Amino acid sequence: MYDLLLTIHNLVRWFFLAAALYAIFKAVKGVSGNAVYTKSDVTAGALLVAAAHTMLLLGLILWFISPNVQAALSNVGASMKDKAARFVLIEHPLTMIIGVALIQIGRIRSKKAYADLDKHKRSLIFYGIALVLILSRIPWNAGL
Ligand code: HEM
Repeated sequence: MYDLLLTIHNLVRWFFLAAALYAIFKAVKGVSGNAVYTKSDVTAGALLVAAAHTMLLLGLILWFISPNVQAALSNVGASMKDKAARFVLIEHPLTMIIGVALIQIGRIRSKKAYADLDKHKRSLIFYGIALVLILSRIPWNAGL
């Protein structure tokens, strides 16, 4: 179960990153060209939120069943001083949760904006900050 979910979490990351880059690319185009907020912009945001929520769900389950997290939990004090244990216990999950929350807030704020330019701007700011945060705490050595 753990191996399967870890593999899915690992693979869906690429879909998530592609969705984030696409939504940010659309937002940049929208802001720079003062473009109309079209259906394809709505779809880009929806895809990104769906991918982020999938990662969140998989990640939360993994956190509870991962042997690495369990080992880190067995001595939290010592884990805080160990780079790898701290990463898996706190740094990765917390940063990702904040990133997913920013994506969700960005989507809601973009939807609520009245002017099309503001919709693009809000998407750009929230998705952009979320992506930078998330990129900073992905375990890149995980393979695939
Ligand atoms: C967009 C968000 C996320 C991305 C891109 C991401 C990416 C990754 C990657 C690449 C791995 C390594 C997979 C492997 O070793 O094969 C991983 C592992 C893991 N992630 Fe995430 N993750 C995200 C969100 C989350 C969230 C929200 C949580 C928890 C709340 C979480 C918890 C974990 C856990 C527990 C592991 C397994 C660590 C282990 O057992 O060594 N992830 N994640």
